[in-house]
Amino acid sequence: QAVYLKDYTAPDYRIETINLRFDLDPEATTVTSRMEVRANYDPAEGRRPFVLNGQELELVSVSMDHDPVGDEGYEISDDTLVIPHPPAHFHLEVVTRINPSANTALEGLYVSGGNFCTQCEAEGFRKITYFPDRPDVMTRFTTTVVADRKEYPVLLSNGDRIDSGELEDGRHYVTWHDPSLKPSYLFALVAGDLACIADHFTTMSGKEVKLELYVQYGNEDKTEHAMRSLKKAMRWDEEVYGREYDLNTYMIVAVDDFNMGAMENKGLNIFNSRFILAKPETATDMDFVNIEGVIAHEYFHNWSGNRVTCRDWFQLSLKEGFTVFRDSQFTADMTSPAVKRIDDVSLLRTRQFAEDAGPMAHPIRPDSYVEINNFYTLTIYEKGAEVVRMIHTLLGPERFRKGSDLYFKRHDGQAVTTDDFVRAMEDANGVDLSRFSHWYEQAGTPRVEVERAYDAAAKQYRLTLRQSCPPTPGQPEKAPCQIPVKTALLSREGAALPLRLAGESQAGGSERVLVLNEPDQTFIFEEIPAEPVPSLLRAFSAPVKLEGGYSDEELAFLMGNETDDFNRWDAGQQLALRVIVRLIEGAPRELDRGLSAAFGKILADDRLDPALVAEALALPPEEYIAECMDEVDPLAIHEARQFVRIALAETHHEALAARYTALADPGPYRVEADAMGRRRLRNACLAYLVQLEGESERAFAQYEAAGNMTDSMAALVALVHNAAPRYDEALQHFYQRWHEDPLVLDKWFAVQAAAPAPGALERVRKLLDHPDFTMRNPNRVRSVIGAFVMRNPAGFHRDLAAYTFLADQIISLDRLNPQVAARMLDPLTRWKRYDESRRNVMKEELERILRVPRISSDVYEVVSKSLAA
Ligand code: ARG
Ligand code: ZN
Repeated sequence: QAVYLKDYTAPDYRIETINLRFDLDPEATTVTSRMEVRANYDPAEGRRPFVLNGQELELVSVSMDHDPVGDEGYEISDDTLVIPHPPAHFHLEVVTRINPSANTALEGLYVSGGNFCTQCEAEGFRKITYFPDRPDVMTRFTTTVVADRKEYPVLLSNGDRIDSGELEDGRHYVTWHDPSLKPSYLFALVAGDLACIADHFTTMSGKEVKLELYVQYGNEDKTEHAMRSLKKAMRWDEEVYGREYDLNTYMIVAVDDFNMGAMENKGLNIFNSRFILAKPETATDMDFVNIEGVIAHEYFHNWSGNRVTCRDWFQLSLKEGFTVFRDSQFTADMTSPAVKRIDDVSLLRTRQFAEDAGPMAHPIRPDSYVEINNFYTLTIYEKGAEVVRMIHTLLGPERFRKGSDLYFKRHDGQAVTTDDFVRAMEDANGVDLSRFSHWYEQAGTPRVEVERAYDAAAKQYRLTLRQSCPPTPGQPEKAPCQIPVKTALLSREGAALPLRLAGESQAGGSERVLVLNEPDQTFIFEEIPAEPVPSLLRAFSAPVKLEGGYSDEELAFLMGNETDDFNRWDAGQQLALRVIVRLIEGAPRELDRGLSAAFGKILADDRLDPALVAEALALPPEEYIAECMDEVDPLAIHEARQFVRIALAETHHEALAARYTALADPGPYRVEADAMGRRRLRNACLAYLVQLEGESERAFAQYEAAGNMTDSMAALVALVHNAAPRYDEALQHFYQRWHEDPLVLDKWFAVQAAAPAPGALERVRKLLDHPDFTMRNPNRVRSVIGAFVMRNPAGFHRDLAAYTFLADQIISLDRLNPQVAARMLDPLTRWKRYDESRRNVMKEELERILRVPRISSDVYEVVSKSLAA
């Protein structure tokens, strides 16, 4: 049941307009759809059937051009309705009935917290009504929502409110018309009893846009940050991309039950409430930053996604990769570019590289899928963004902007492909990016090896770069990619040297983008007075694994002298990684002197940005260490990393305590980059300190004194993850104080599920029995099962029974919510990376899942691909 890109054909019918009417009732909602349909082929060559998608729908009636159509006039299957011989132009009315309150998959129309809401991307609209549910069928929607006035005073859909009124039996209606052309996946409907926070924004051309944020009553005091973020995003997109908002109103609704982060439905975004609701007492700094980023992401989709959309779902990265790139530029501008880059690359290297090396590896433009929901991946999103970033690096900001202007102008109102995106970049600038296409077509993370040679007599420095890419499922051989390697050469004094490549008449700056096109290429630099230390892949200019061939001493030199913030941080990570790997391989248990000295130097340097210091003090995460090893031993990794952490804390006890004290922030709480950076560093110091005898009181005191969630949570994590004295007291206190706030309660669950100490499995089982646990809420599932299996490698892998536990959970979750169930499979798909006993049990559990009758296509695809690879 796989779908292939090569089978793509244009739709046979266009929908000129659609008129929808929803008679809302939680158990039995009636949907009336009236479409004007026109053949998209030459009818002289014979009639083609009109195929509409539909799932889990009760068909009430069909009529064509106002005449009822009997059963003989259409064919119906589990997922289609087919009109075999329609005329070239006709009106079709389809009436269906659905049960939103029984919809636990949270796809289509469902009920959350007593309110109706929708999620249509990718293929949820077919669970609402019969329709050619594919992104290249774009139409104009008029939607009438009818519901009980008392229970559902607020009735929303896309576009402008054009009519409203009262009906009998206490019901009322609102009619919405969306003037834009949109595919079904951008349709949205909301009905409920919600508080509305209103504001407005004046666009660059002077248009007034109404901004409306809808939340459950009682949450109005947690919307200020979201509204401010929206206005910042709107302004930024005008300034940086020249993009203005098009409709009269921009609405955002927060719901508690949501499979993903948020959804960019035209003019009516629907958000997981965790990406809207925040105030300092309940949300951490990271929450605030993430909210700003997700609000911007969904807003930016209005151009990169909605006005210009995807031709088919193989092109998903067209909108997601580009939009993630745009939101990362935005966050960099709003906070700190270096910190944002470090955080993005960490995510890519710990999770996307693993995906690229695993059984589900796929190119950012896949050529087939079974269940598209499984392809909302780190590869499509994060690697997709890296690929756009490389184009930006190759072209530079001005030419990139010319390319994006042409792209938006040329394709406004169209459903297009990633090739169209690259072509616009080429055409706007008269450049050839054809070598670049392998990034879209090939899975796997390329490796770049570096060889260096200095010729003192000729004053020549030669850098040889050699690329390769490991095989991935279905792709044994790889072609070379075009890899931009941003490079500088540092003198032993730490100065970036002027660069003149062989053949050039004069030096052009001290930083160059070397473009690697061939399997290997040598770059020769002239007039280099002494052997330099190369600074390579600056700001992580390509999503590759670089083997720089550095000695420990060179890494230490780079930690102190790199002028590229990202590379300075990364030199520390590489050094720490080596030290930890050596310990795992049996090196004597002593703290590496070089690492410790560098740690001390950075900790003491109060001229550095505190946020960057915090990043530098952090050791590489366990998942990243695992990613760098052939056979993964999660416990050995945890143990070696802990050894280094504790040794660093002991050695630098005083300095950590001094920095902790000096960073105390007596002023009022502010969500601004500098204040957040100080808290981040202070809490990083605390996390080291709390591991030491007699220091847990410090964490407990911070927990008790904290006036904001950032400091409160940091203290709680420090206590719980080290099983420090009185951690239980803090946990109980936290529960009492916050159990009525679902988002804060998620944190309470997650901190426990992610605690690495022995007994994690038993603790997690208890959490599942907790009265506040429910499988129906995706955030809660992620905060317990997700945190345990994906953010607690040592705790999860300690006991083979955890694999059986996870399989059991997936099987029961799959009956309710296949999308979320398939996500939880991730750790089991990596079975081949572990020792034999782990591998065997994981494999058996995957096979057991496959034997369960009526498993979803979501879970089926992931399990069968991981067993086959
Ligand atoms: N387009 C949304 C976003 O990235 C995500 C929607 C995901 N939906 C899904 N069914 N997987 O902003
Ligand atoms: Zn998106």
